[in-house]
Amino acid sequence: MKKTTQSVHAGSQHDKNMGGLNTPLFASSAIEYLDDSEVRYPRYFNTLNHDVVAKKMSALEGAEAGLVTSSGMAAISAILFGLLKAGDHIVLTEGLYGGSHALVVNELRRFGISYSFAAVDANSIGAAVTDDTRMIFVESPSNPLLTIVDLSAIAAFAKSKGVITVIDNTFASPILQNPLIEGFDLVMHSGTKYLGGHSDLCCGTVNGSAALVARVRGFAVNYGGCLNAQDCYLLERSLKTLALRVDRQSQNAGIIASRLVKTEEIKQVYYPGLEQHPGHLIASRQMSGFGGMLSFELANGIDPVSYVRRLKLVRCAVSLGGVETSICQPVATSHQKMPEAERQRLGITPGLLRLSVGIEDADDIFVDLLQALDEKI
Ligand SMILES: Cc1ncc(COP(=O)(O)O)c(C=O)c1O
Repeated sequence: MKKTTQSVHAGSQHDKNMGGLNTPLFASSAIEYLDDSEVRYPRYFNTLNHDVVAKKMSALEGAEAGLVTSSGMAAISAILFGLLKAGDHIVLTEGLYGGSHALVVNELRRFGISYSFAAVDANSIGAAVTDDTRMIFVESPSNPLLTIVDLSAIAAFAKSKGVITVIDNTFASPILQNPLIEGFDLVMHSGTKYLGGHSDLCCGTVNGSAALVARVRGFAVNYGGCLNAQDCYLLERSLKTLALRVDRQSQNAGIIASRLVKTEEIKQVYYPGLEQHPGHLIASRQMSGFGGMLSFELANGIDPVSYVRRLKLVRCAVSLGGVETSICQPVATSHQKMPEAERQRLGITPGLLRLSVGIEDADDIFVDLLQALDEKI
């Protein structure tokens, strides 16, 4: 089945009591076990509403199994701590989401796990791998500079070394990129973003082989981090429109990026759909669209905080992936915790703004972005 059909139907269970078309909201935390081969309990990630979302995401990502968690960070933590142990080494790509970066630099050493950050090209990632490396973790497109990793090259290299590959696929969503098909072992999402899509959920997902997901789940059962039934229900409802939303957001972002590039007051635009983007060719090969996220840098002299205050339609907010267009200054939000020297080295400057393009009319969004450049208003 195609993505649009999978988004609506995969995994969903019709209500057998009343014939309702939606999966019933199964709120019980105490569940009879005598006639079930599996003991079911919310913290075991295996109640009805968990299963349904995990199955829908598995269909969309082309995975054998899945897990739905209480946040994107819960998904990342369960993967790292579920699969790594003291003495292991992990290679991560530079320019990760600030929260993932903070988790790595603040927590891993305490558990005896060493790490290296590598530039996103396959040679740099390969060069960072040591005899102790057990995992390569990448984000593509990355937050906020939209860098692109060559997924099939990294997957092939990692397989030859027996290293597990993991990707944060949040920015692409399963509609535009399926890393497991490129050979990656695990894919995770901050479901708070495109999967939820309406800026009212906090959740995460993990998908991959049944064996690897079982190991991640084993850790998560001990440490907690399950999503409640109501939010699983809402997430399933949101996923039904995922393909429609993401296609529209990606289309809008392409229009806006191509116009921003021609705008004098914009110094630089980061969008993988632009031919001049360094990852454009790889993105064209491994993504079916370039996504709804882009970043741009204002020309020197334009104060970014005053600029976002002048916007009328576009809202200045943390998070991304909602139906409404939003903007944020990464140095003050997603990458606030990253040391300034590291931000500067990566190009995350105070003038950089990250735009999450929504499903509104592209002309209306662009008009708002333009009018706010006028410092006299
Ligand atoms: C790319 C990416 N990964 C992971 C996360 C963490 O997700 P959550 O906030 O749902 O824990 C975020 C949050 O902004 C993100 O942008």
